[in-house]
Amino acid sequence: MPTKSTAFLDPTTAVSHLETYQRADGLSASELIDSQLHGGLTYNDFLLLPGRIDFPASEVITESRITRKVVLKTPFMSSPMDTVTESEMAISMALLGGIGVIHHNQSPDAQAAMVRAVKRHENGFITDPICLTPDHVVEDVLDIKARLGFGGIPITDSGSLGGKLLGIVTNRDVQFRAPSTRLSEVMTTSLVTAPEGVTLSEANDILRDSKKGKLPIIDNQGRLTSLLARSDLLKNQTYPLASKRPESKQLYAAAAIGTRPADRDRLKMLVDAGLDIVVLDSSQGNSIYQEDMIRWIKSTFPSIEVIAGNVVTREQAATLISAGADALRIGMGSGSICITQEVMAVGRPQATAVYAVAEFAGRFGVPVIADGGIGNVGHVVKALALGAGAVMMGGLLAGTTEAPGEYFYHEGKRVKAYRGMGSIEAMEQGKPLPPSTSTNGRGPGSTKYPNPRKAATHENAATTRYFSESSAVKVAQGVSGDVQDKGSVKAFLPYLHAGVQHSLQDIGVRGIRELQEEVRGGRVRFELRTASAQVEGGVHGLNSYTKRLFA
Ligand code: IMP
Repeated sequence: MPTKSTAFLDPTTAVSHLETYQRADGLSASELIDSQLHGGLTYNDFLLLPGRIDFPASEVITESRITRKVVLKTPFMSSPMDTVTESEMAISMALLGGIGVIHHNQSPDAQAAMVRAVKRHENGFITDPICLTPDHVVEDVLDIKARLGFGGIPITDSGSLGGKLLGIVTNRDVQFRAPSTRLSEVMTTSLVTAPEGVTLSEANDILRDSKKGKLPIIDNQGRLTSLLARSDLLKNQTYPLASKRPESKQLYAAAAIGTRPADRDRLKMLVDAGLDIVVLDSSQGNSIYQEDMIRWIKSTFPSIEVIAGNVVTREQAATLISAGADALRIGMGSGSICITQEVMAVGRPQATAVYAVAEFAGRFGVPVIADGGIGNVGHVVKALALGAGAVMMGGLLAGTTEAPGEYFYHEGKRVKAYRGMGSIEAMEQGKPLPPSTSTNGRGPGSTKYPNPRKAATHENAATTRYFSESSAVKVAQGVSGDVQDKGSVKAFLPYLHAGVQHSLQDIGVRGIRELQEEVRGGRVRFELRTASAQVEGGVHGLNSYTKRLFA
């Protein structure tokens, strides 16, 4: 008896056969986020399904719009927090194609000086070198070498940049000298210098020919204006992705302010210093103060781009969009140092918040920034897929060399301090720190936190961010801790960039714009992750392992 053969379909028709299905695998973004079904989602609650690859990852374009007028080559921003973004981070972020938002938990003068440093930055020149005076001693140089790893320190009459250059102290000058020897006795005074205005390539030539380790740049009065290091000569000096204003070729500068009357004066100073983008820094942006501030800025400084927020609902977003916001910052309770959801019972899971606000704001041409809760490359891609023009990161960048503060050791690990701007410590900035807050053994006034005593002359930005400036009891919305050393942002950001390119390649889209179009069209698909799917997706079943993220 002949057996009945199974009637398989012709394999060559497999692709066209897909059309006979009612719907593609997985969910569209709106089906995924439908909170009636399962409540709000975080980034870890879902995945994107893979698409088809017919291009190399290096061709993926990561260009993205972060405000109405500003497009960056990479979608990365650093948070306006006093343990994350000062001028060094802002310069590096901009050189690498992102942007750093300078925090405002410092005096307006100090913040304006940081904006100026970003605008004046010329690739390769060190614009904030550590200087000493002739009255410092050899021990001070050895201390700097031990803490920061470099020698070759300019000696100026004021001990800071802008002082008259008197000499330079190199490692060899201090070798075999008693620690108490004054630098005036050991410093090298026969100096090779270059005049202010010298181009980087001219300065590099002088440095190369001089065979010195450092080249001080001085103005016509002999005052130190910047420094060039031989070690930097050896590094790659070109930054093809740099975030620059098209007309001036200067790096973009962004800074945060509050919404108090004094912030108007602060903003004037920042604009004078060259500011391009202002972030209105509030944990709950839907306030009459912020609306008024947006209207005032747009009428007073029409060329400044205003990023308003934070918001997590369409209703909050609507108020700020109608007041004139050029972009919105999304996130309430998602930050790694944040206890807002726990203490205030207010907030929203971040993936749902990003999708809801991006979908709404997109109708008005207003880009959104997914702020907080970014812990890895996958989170970046998920935020972009849900409609964000950029991600803003605090904790992920706080352990890099370019973040303010110095490394110290905690339980055997090299770490840097990272604290929420709603932590008691940040809200009390300006008050003397008790000795116990310094765990690096150098007592109060150490640089575990940046500028620990700087803020007495201005309203504390952390309290205004949380509307706590007039409260007798300060209710914390953040914690204070530390994060592990991540090396330089100059290696870490390129890793994030390459990671995003590879992820988009897996999804089968050639750029962020295409990703968002395909998500809107329902062609890029998502899948919810159960708790056990999350376990399966992590490393499991190993006795031990090392997790190196990039090489
Ligand atoms: P992270 O990248 O997850 O560490 O989150 C950084 C973001 O958390 C910042 O950009 C702020 O929006 C937010 N944030 C900063 N300080 C606090 C705080 O003290 N409480 C709550 N959120 C904070």
